This record gives sequence, structure tokens and C-alpha cells, in this order.
Amino acid sequence: MNIFKISVWILLIPIIQKATSQNPIYIPDTLGGNEFLLQLKNSSKEFYLGFQTQTNAYNGNYLGPTLILNKGQQIKIQVDNQLSETTTTHWHGLHVAPKNDGGPHNPIFPNTKWSPEFTVMDQAGTYWYHPHLHGKTFEQVIKGAAGLIIIHDQEEIDLKIPRTYSVDDIPLILQFQTVDPISKQISVNNDFDNVSMVNGTINPMLKCPAQIIRFRLLNASSRRVFNLGFNDDRTFYQIAGDAGLLNKPIPMKKIRLGTGERAEILVDFNSDQGKNLILKQYGNELPAGFPGGPAIMGMSPLGPLDNKIFDILNIHVTSQTNNSVTQIPAKLIENNPLSPSGAIERSIRFTAQPMMSMTNFFINGLKYDEHTINFTVNQKDKEIWNITNQTIMAHPFHIHGNSFYILSINGIDPPENMKGRKDVVLIPPMNGNVRIITQYNDFHDSSLPYMFHCHILSHEDDGMMGQFLVLESPTKTEQGYVEDSFKFFPSIAINKVLIETINTFIPYSIRIYDFMGNCLKHIDQLNSSYELDIQNLKQGFYLISILQNNHPYCHKIVKVN
Ligand code: C2O
Ligand code: CU
Ligand code: CU
Repeated sequence: MNIFKISVWILLIPIIQKATSQNPIYIPDTLGGNEFLLQLKNSSKEFYLGFQTQTNAYNGNYLGPTLILNKGQQIKIQVDNQLSETTTTHWHGLHVAPKNDGGPHNPIFPNTKWSPEFTVMDQAGTYWYHPHLHGKTFEQVIKGAAGLIIIHDQEEIDLKIPRTYSVDDIPLILQFQTVDPISKQISVNNDFDNVSMVNGTINPMLKCPAQIIRFRLLNASSRRVFNLGFNDDRTFYQIAGDAGLLNKPIPMKKIRLGTGERAEILVDFNSDQGKNLILKQYGNELPAGFPGGPAIMGMSPLGPLDNKIFDILNIHVTSQTNNSVTQIPAKLIENNPLSPSGAIERSIRFTAQPMMSMTNFFINGLKYDEHTINFTVNQKDKEIWNITNQTIMAHPFHIHGNSFYILSINGIDPPENMKGRKDVVLIPPMNGNVRIITQYNDFHDSSLPYMFHCHILSHEDDGMMGQFLVLESPTKTEQGYVEDSFKFFPSIAINKVLIETINTFIPYSIRIYDFMGNCLKHIDQLNSSYELDIQNLKQGFYLISILQNNHPYCHKIVKVN
């Protein structure tokens, strides 16, 4: 984009914003029960009078339904991909096995369905779902493919806090878009994002009864960090972070949320009937280097809404409802953070190339490669991840399949509102450091990995992501029987895989395929056990196919270095 184009763009911003008067906020419908159907398709929405903006969405034209789940419940979700391109659907924050996670390894091809089934194991909280196909996440998400997941559990139900969806328990999905001022189409570029939306509504207006209101905030934007507060500088109370309730409501005046992060807050509107209030973004108060705030040493190009104060949501307070909650509880739940003793420590380092770059990022010197397993984690081991950011901007770091607790941020204890379970944390720039602790207790899979990545969608698509396997245990041998005639050892190997056959009378052949279906090697006329040399294969997943008596048997292996 040349300078001229940028300045035209910026000049047009005030026009776009004035063109829209206050619009009643859209609240996504809910879906409950044990079986869910999500149909992802291309659509369009009239964000601007007389303009159809191209979108894609689950079950609608922009943002999907809110899934209401209960802890302990067994569910089945059918995702029907009606797009003309491949997608995946990831359950962000849910503790599920890799095969149900919806990361880049669970592709849903056009006109096909994917039907994960799992037990809801997470605590009451606000989670979300969105596509996660490598290289396509940014585009599919910002065009509207995202939705909220609300989980309830007994502990939360026992608390006297607002829980009536769209009355006193209100989802606020916060996004920014780069909208072309002429065509009104969403562009896949986030450096100059110029339009703020809540629940897909531009210039939104929400009517709230005069009582305690619970807002479920999700930062679903592609890069911007929110720093939210009210225009009258009132105190509100954070009751939950990404993955569950806090020990007690934490009084706050501003709340900071990186991409992918969630928070639940309680706001006391008891004595505000008839008033108009505004939830605002205070980007100017963000630390330098946080996307949406001031730049470090003038390095990053500032977008039209960066480093500014502006309105996010207009609130009109109406009369109280029956059975309203009118008090902020003193206590919530009891979190039991993992203790660091006996934990394995791992370091994760963000760098940029060149050093001051704002676009080309690496994790531990690498870009994401679907064939590379970056490390393995043993099931039930406590893991401390020591994350250092050697770039000039903050990155929201996210892990799949689990939540974590923050041990420290730049060497000190996290603030009270970040002491609960989380799955995204902003890593401050310029050698900023965050230490987190996690434990993968319930699922292991020797071939399907979990992801860890920066949740700035363009960074993620560009490869600021890695993957790891959770393995059953360090010493236990990995072996699989194929129809009882063949035995493979080990399934995760560096140099060789031993293929043992019980039936030595019938000759067999071996073929190795990569995951694109290319045959890399074949060995014919074998009639005894065979040591398959895999030294020269790249790291990644492979399929060993055995043919004996015209019967094919398949076995998956992972090559590591
Ligand atoms: Cu919200 Cu890996 O993603
Ligand atoms: Cu996720
Ligand atoms: Cu990043």
C-alpha cells in the first residue's frame, strides 16, 4: 500500500463512522442440547445501508450461534463445510483430545462434514469456536466465522450472579475490521483496521436493565488489544478470565484483552436507570508496542484507530427486571493453581527477522511446518513454559487443549484478575517474559499434535505457530498391532522402525507415504522382520502401508529428530 492510498484511507474514516447512527446490538442465538449442527457457508450482510458485504458464517450471515454446554455433558457437533474451500473448526479453550480439537490437522474439505464427539470437561466460563486452517484462519475468521461457547457447571450455578442470556448475561464479541471505504468489503489486512464492531454491529446500542449485568467479553479481532473502560470511569468487577471463574470479583476501571482472550465482568447499573453510558477503548493507555496502542520508538505504522480513545458500545439503562441480581458477590470459586515444584521447564522465544520487523516472526527460530513436531510433552508431567518476546511488539500466546496458570509476568506476580485459568496471555515486547504452568492430564496421542501460537491472526497464518505431541509416558514402549500379524516399534522414531511379522511364510511389501499421499519408498518381497530406515525422512507423520496376500494394513508413525 503506498503512502497516497493510506492517507486517502485515513481521511475517509470519519465519513464511515458518521454514516452510521446507533444500531441495536445483535445478540447471537443460542443452541443447547447434546447434538449441535454448525453449517459454515458464504453469505453477506448489510453492515452499511445499501451495501452487501461478503461474509462467511456458521448458521447465519455473520458470527455463529452461542453454544450452551454443561460440564460433564457428552456432546456431538456436526460441522458441515459448505464453503468452496477447506476449513477446520477449533474449540478455543476446550480441553479435548487432539482428534477433536479442530486444529490444522482436522481439515474439513468442501462439502464434507466433521463430527467430533466429546465430554465437556471444562469449568464454567466463556470459550469460542473459529476456523483454524493454516494460512486461512485470518480470512475465514474476520469474515464472520466465529461463535461463542458458554459452559455452565454446578459451582457457577450455585453462585448468585446473572445467568439469563441476553437479559443480564450478555455476550460482547469485540472485533475490528478493515473495511474498504468505497466497496464496503472486509479486507484481509489488519494494519489499518478502521471499523469497530460488537457482535457484528457497527456503532452498537444495548439496552440494559438497572441491576447487575454480566458481560462476557471476547476479543475476536485479528490483532488489536482492547483496553476497555466506561466513560464515567466507574469501577466494574472481573469475575472470570479465559477459562473459568476467579476466586473473587476483582474491582477494576480498565480491562486489557489480547486477541483470543475472554473476560467476564459484572457492572452495577442499579442506580443508573435512564442513563446513557459508553464502553470505550482507551488505546492511548496501552503500553508501547501493544497492538492498538502507541508504537515503540515510532516503529510500527499506526492505524487510524491506534493509540486513540473511541466508543465501543453505547448502553442505555432501562428499568429493572423481576428476580434481578442486585449485588456483587464477595466470593466466587476456589482456584487451585499448579505448584511449580517438580515441573519441567521449557523455553519459547519469539524473534523477528530482521530484528525490528513488524511482520516476520518466529518461535524458537522456526516457522510452523505441519510435518515438524516441535517437542513432545509427557502426559501428567507439570510443564513450565518460559516465554520470552525479543520483538518490538506484544504477542498474545495461546495453547491448545488445555488451560494454564500464569506464574509471572516480567518477573513479578500476575495481577489479581489474571490469577485464574487462562489459555491466552499477552507477552510484553522488548524482552518481555511470561512464565506459565500447565499439565496435560487426560489425553495423549502419538500422532496428532496440539498447537501453540500467537493469536494475532496474520502472525499465526504466517507461521508464528508450533505443535507438540502429548505422549502417554516417557518409558512405556509404543507398539501397535496391525491385524495381529505385524508389530511396529516404536511409533515415534528417530532412525528406524522395527516391523515384526509373526507370519513368516507369506511375503509382504512395505510402502511409506507422506500425509499428502506421496509414496516415498517401497520394499518388496520381504518374509521376515524388517528394520525400516527412516533416517533420511523429514520430521513429521508418515503412513506405513503393508501389503500381504493383497491385504493392505496401515500404521501411522512419527519421525522426530
Ligand atoms: Cu483461537 Cu489456536 O486458536
Ligand atoms: Cu485455541
Ligand atoms: Cu504475534
